[in-house]
Amino acid sequence: MIKLSHIVKTYNQGTAQEVKALHDISLEINKGEIFGVIGLSGAGKSTLIRIINMLERPTAGTVVVNGQNLTAMSETQLRQARQHIGMIFQSFNLLSSATVRENVAFPLKLSGRMERAVIDKRVDELLEMVELSDKALMYPAQLSGGQKQRVGIARALASNPAVLLCDEATSALDPKTTSSILELLTSLRRKLGLTIVIITHQMEVIKECCDRVAVIDGGVITELGSATEIFIDPKEALTKRLVSAAVRRGLPNLLRHTQVVPEYHEGAKAVLELLFLGPKADAPVIVDVARECDVSISILSGNIDHIQNQPFGIMAVEVGGTRSEIDRAINEFKQRVHKVEVLGYDERKQLSEL
Ligand SMILES: Nc1ncnc2c1ncn2[C@@H]1O[C@H](COP(=O)(O)OP(=O)(O)OP(=O)(O)O)[C@@H](O)[C@H]1O
Ligand SMILES: [Mg+2]
Repeated sequence: MIKLSHIVKTYNQGTAQEVKALHDISLEINKGEIFGVIGLSGAGKSTLIRIINMLERPTAGTVVVNGQNLTAMSETQLRQARQHIGMIFQSFNLLSSATVRENVAFPLKLSGRMERAVIDKRVDELLEMVELSDKALMYPAQLSGGQKQRVGIARALASNPAVLLCDEATSALDPKTTSSILELLTSLRRKLGLTIVIITHQMEVIKECCDRVAVIDGGVITELGSATEIFIDPKEALTKRLVSAAVRRGLPNLLRHTQVVPEYHEGAKAVLELLFLGPKADAPVIVDVARECDVSISILSGNIDHIQNQPFGIMAVEVGGTRSEIDRAINEFKQRVHKVEVLGYDERKQLSEL
């Protein structure tokens, strides 16, 4: 649905203020996908999303949306093509002197081709879709942040776009309102077959609704994968940092109380991190392995979370027994959970002997 090839964006090229915002970005986003782009401030996220609808022309590279090569178009052609690409913003960008109704009707009136009655009917539909029918005659100042963003969404969908671009659309909202907006986007994707691109610096947003995610750092995509892959198995340091902010792994706390060393030594217990994914997340694995391998297992920390409503659990456990029993238990865990990481061996005993 969206294909970016070798996109370069340099602001103020050839001047003292030159900024290389994007370097050779290639990316394909599929129809009906909710695709997240995450990165720190200044990474180039807004530049990237503005290039998708050509609010910003790339210095090099091509942008194809819905089979149309936008980079080859004139401004007039672009205005036409942008009807198929809606956009919402962090600051909502509503007209403060216009009612909710008028804000949503605005792009339809602007197109100049629709009769009043047709516009009215369409606006009713849109307001119903974002559950704001009862606020039609209010002004933006009378709405909550979440309601303002719903108006933004209704307005963006007025021209029936195939693509919706969201630039930090939930950054100004509290977590509960953020969830409700993300739920609305997810249901609109289902109902309308929309392709949605979400730019964010919040991993929580990715966790709640994205199918795939690209991590952008210094104008380069450093990691790309399914949201689940990125959460379970982040590769790059920045991705790990972003993920650890959104997923409580419980370990830093643990390490304050327990010394863990990488090598096994006589009498040590193994400290493991177990990742559970999907329906297995609540299987009685711990009890089963303890019984079958005759080891003692204590749970050091545990947390069940959800990625796109799929259960996802992280547990730190300590396994005690002989070396071969511990090794067997580790192998058993490997068969039964999504991922096992041996964090090391407990050195508490040695410390207490000092
Ligand atoms: N119009 C512009 N003129 C010159 N430089 C710009 C312009 N817009 C962005 N930049 C620069 O390009 C780089 C990327 O900016 P961009 O706004 O894309 O980052 P971002 O990832 O969206 O950041 P944030 O999370 O803070 O919104 C930054 O160094 C920024 O200063
Ligand atoms: Mg930005």
